[in-house]
Amino acid sequence: MKKRDSTCLAIMVIFLVFQLYLYLSPVTRMNVSRSTKTIQGRKHKLPKSINKRETLTPPFPRSTQAKEINCDRTHNFYDICSINGPTVLDPTTSTFFLMDPTISTPKKPMVEKLRPYPRKWESFTMPRIKEVTLISGPSSPKCKIQHKAPALVFSADGYIGNFFHDFNDVFIPLFITVNSVYPDQDVVLMISKARDWWVSKYIEIIHTFSKYPIIDLDNDNITHCFPSVSVGMITHGFMTIDPKLTPNSITFSHFRAFLDKAYGQNQNQSQNKSQNQNYPSKFKHSKSRPILVLASRSGGVGRVLLNQNEVKLEVERIGFNVIVFEPRTTTPLKESYALINSSHAMIGIHGAALTHSLFLRPGSVFVQVVPLGAEWVSQVCFEKSAKDMGLVYMEYKIKAEESSLIEKYDKDDMIIKDPVAYRGKNWSPVVMSIYLKEQNVKLDLVRFREYLKEMYKTAKKFMEKEG
Ligand SMILES: *[C@@H]1O[C@H](CO)[C@@H](O)[C@H](O)[C@H]1NC(C)=O
Ligand SMILES: *[C@@H]1O[C@H](CO)[C@@H](O)[C@H](O)[C@H]1NC(C)=O
Ligand SMILES: *[C@@H]1O[C@H](CO)[C@@H](O)[C@H](O)[C@H]1NC(C)=O
Ligand SMILES: *[C@@H]1O[C@H](CO)[C@@H](O)[C@H](O)[C@H]1NC(C)=O
Repeated sequence: MKKRDSTCLAIMVIFLVFQLYLYLSPVTRMNVSRSTKTIQGRKHKLPKSINKRETLTPPFPRSTQAKEINCDRTHNFYDICSINGPTVLDPTTSTFFLMDPTISTPKKPMVEKLRPYPRKWESFTMPRIKEVTLISGPSSPKCKIQHKAPALVFSADGYIGNFFHDFNDVFIPLFITVNSVYPDQDVVLMISKARDWWVSKYIEIIHTFSKYPIIDLDNDNITHCFPSVSVGMITHGFMTIDPKLTPNSITFSHFRAFLDKAYGQNQNQSQNKSQNQNYPSKFKHSKSRPILVLASRSGGVGRVLLNQNEVKLEVERIGFNVIVFEPRTTTPLKESYALINSSHAMIGIHGAALTHSLFLRPGSVFVQVVPLGAEWVSQVCFEKSAKDMGLVYMEYKIKAEESSLIEKYDKDDMIIKDPVAYRGKNWSPVVMSIYLKEQNVKLDLVRFREYLKEMYKTAKKFMEKEG
């Protein structure tokens, strides 16, 4: 798990390095000049320009040609291919055959290969993703299992297993893809690297996408056939959905509603809630005080809240009931969902655990504590999604005195004084680990209190209105 705790931040850094590399390559210079300008200008608005760029190309699918195998490879983040007709899968070779091809291609069958994971720009991630082949001939194997619904194929490899990436790299793209390619239709999900623990962790979400059992693309050896298939996932950028790029104008709020549907279906299973110490059920029905979730990080992983107990006391003094929430991989997600969906506010230091802000109800308050050097990623990973789903978002940018880095570096060091400029000159994962792994936070309670007062006002109003 440690290795996978790469966090959103590290990934962004590498992304930027790669963009820079793209810029230096003459072939694509024209394409990325916008984004590179923002790097040099140190404004770090890269994802915006990417989204902007994505709007220049029409959303998939636009199959104007009478080809049965279509691929859209025009995007920076992903490829997507489909067979728009009966197809049979040979799982032992991850190959989809076009059944009864109408195009007569006796000599040269059409062959398309792709890796169905939406981080196409990451040259060091993609080779690990299993390749899927779509082929138009010569003849397909015999069908053993016939499915009525079309198939959607994706990989749960790469960074999957990290809570941020599970949503950013799979569930949000999957939501966009299902709504774009198969609106109003059931799909059979075929997953590469569908690890058992992962599937059971997200079983409610997976079942909301599809009522059929998933097919494990790596451990199946029987041919399956489908009326059609799509391979790959569409993404619109980091933690975002652009309604203009979807046929039915879906928004991030729709995704939030989808999650509520997923976790609302199994009411029976929420009975074990009280067993978890994180979920004192006495708060559940206490209508007098709003509930604040304090997302906690511990251990030597960086970005730990050093004065958590003092902060907790201060939050209580302001008038909240506080729940210290330290999610573990074993915490059932439906319990986390039930807890956060019934809370009124959340505080946390930038990190993958803040992906739980997706479980907050629209109208509740979310304060992201932004460590030194994490300004841009904080915005990209959680601020945008929070605003898009209607949370009341606030950002608490720490001062140098609140960072543990002040003990290691001189306060006039660029690392402390101007992280943006410092990074700008020397982008590398090694440098970024200073901000990610070496840095812990000790909040200035006097300054933070003003934020808490503001939070309390909003949360109380929200509670009175929504319960
Ligand atoms: C197919 O898979 C099943 C279960 O994994 C196994 O029992 C069977 O021997 C396999 N058949 C072949 C032909 O590989
Ligand atoms: C989340 O909260 C809303 C509003 O209180 C409620 O209607 C909904 O049923 C809750 N969802 C789940 C899955 O508990
Ligand atoms: C809850 O469980 C009971 C029996 O175990 C079942 O009859 C009922 O349909 C379930 N309700 C829901 C909402 O799943
Ligand atoms: C509640 O927990 C017990 C033991 O932890 C487990 O056996 C049981 O299946 C759980 N019930 C539900 C409804 O999840």
